[in-house]
Amino acid sequence: MELHCRRIFQLIAFLTISSKTNIVVLVYGLSPCGFPAIFNFGDSNSDTGGLSAAFGQAPPPHGESFFGGPAGRYCDGRLVIDFISEKLKLPYLSAFLDALGSNFTYGANFATAGSTIRPQNTTLRQTGYSPISLNVQQYEFYDFHKRSQIIRSKGGVFKGLLPKEEDFSKALYTFDIGQNDITAGFFANLTADQVRASMPDILDQFKTVVKNVYYQGGRSFWIHNTGPVGCLPYVMDRLLVTAGQVDKIGCVTPINEVAQYFNKGLKQLVVQLRKEFPLATFTYVDVYSVKYNLIGQAQKHGFVHPLQSCCGHGGKYNYNLHNGCGSKRTVNGTEVLVGKACKDPSVTIIWDGIHYTQAANKWVFDQIVDGAFSDPPIPLNMACHKLN
Ligand SMILES: *[C@@H]1O[C@H](CO)[C@@H](O)[C@H](O)[C@H]1NC(C)=O
Ligand SMILES: *[C@@H]1O[C@H](CO)[C@@H](O)[C@H](O)[C@H]1NC(C)=O
Ligand SMILES: *[C@@H]1O[C@H](CO)[C@@H](O)[C@H](O)[C@H]1NC(C)=O
Ligand SMILES: *[C@@H]1O[C@H](CO)[C@@H](O)[C@H](O)[C@H]1NC(C)=O
Repeated sequence: MELHCRRIFQLIAFLTISSKTNIVVLVYGLSPCGFPAIFNFGDSNSDTGGLSAAFGQAPPPHGESFFGGPAGRYCDGRLVIDFISEKLKLPYLSAFLDALGSNFTYGANFATAGSTIRPQNTTLRQTGYSPISLNVQQYEFYDFHKRSQIIRSKGGVFKGLLPKEEDFSKALYTFDIGQNDITAGFFANLTADQVRASMPDILDQFKTVVKNVYYQGGRSFWIHNTGPVGCLPYVMDRLLVTAGQVDKIGCVTPINEVAQYFNKGLKQLVVQLRKEFPLATFTYVDVYSVKYNLIGQAQKHGFVHPLQSCCGHGGKYNYNLHNGCGSKRTVNGTEVLVGKACKDPSVTIIWDGIHYTQAANKWVFDQIVDGAFSDPPIPLNMACHKLN
């Protein structure tokens, strides 16, 4: 009986969000999942301190709009994952790699800036890609799951720092990765067709990781697709000349086409996962459309100079590969910080040529939180429920 009622409520919920009319009825029908923890996997879009812990802190002025200083994020403030934590009334996620001050009671973040799905055959120093690729993040998660329980059982301070065993199956598992696999191909001078040809392998490796997380108890998956990377200064600066075509808003077309090709494959993969694992929920979130819309209609949404980096120096986009945000450069024999050049980061979209500002992240989050860009169209806090 109870199950029957839930089905009906879910059906009502589904109809309501599909028509995007009455969110109130939806919330009334479905109960929030009450996720006790978040486990996140990804790249810089959701890194809350992983790369900083292992390879040196993201320098000032990162973090200054919100944290009052560097906070392990490549942003002036909060990331989409931070707004997800806030919405679920959980603390900001500690990076798994951060040995200092971390508290994993409510989850852990395995993302690092520069992470790819496929392990790269180059070092961080050579090409800037993190050695903590998605498969490594999954090894870390596996180890975290096993060892956290052994250590937690010792009691004392450990009990207050690590999640309960049952929280692993109740947690929300978030993924935001893929952008760096695309740029790695283009930066290695592969053609768009060659990069495209690598997608089946990349998606297959993504799937393997999601499956392994499922076998570790993961049941609620919230998977972001990849953004319009061809609109970001670090890509335009390096590839505009070689890649040629520019779309009507100034982004590099072939790069964005490959990003969309990846997303199409990712969406199909999510459909397969749903079939293979009926006990789990998989929500595909179209972050690409949200970000592209924001950049393409910046003014309408209250933002200015959509393709200009806020923190940076030089060139058409206020971005220079060799003088990144927070680095030092020499001007007339004096060292100066490459800092904030925009007047107001709260109306700027791009922070450092690679990443979005806190204001843009908040805008993106507000678009996706209620499920308007999700398949199925389920709100974040209800992503444990099946709608079909
Ligand atoms: C790295 O090299 C291995 C072995 O040659 C190859 O299978 C793999 O695809 C390469 N990875 C990338 C990202 O190119
Ligand atoms: C970790 O966070 C939880 C929840 O806020 C808290 O109960 C616990 O005391 C914290 N642990 C430590 C060691 O501060
Ligand atoms: C790609 O091509 C550019 C321009 O010809 C060259 O400078 C660069 O070294 C090449 N990169 C790689 C990884 O081959
Ligand atoms: C560097 O010095 C030259 C000569 O004194 C001056 O014209 C120029 O404006 C200075 N540049 C900056 C960025 O201060």
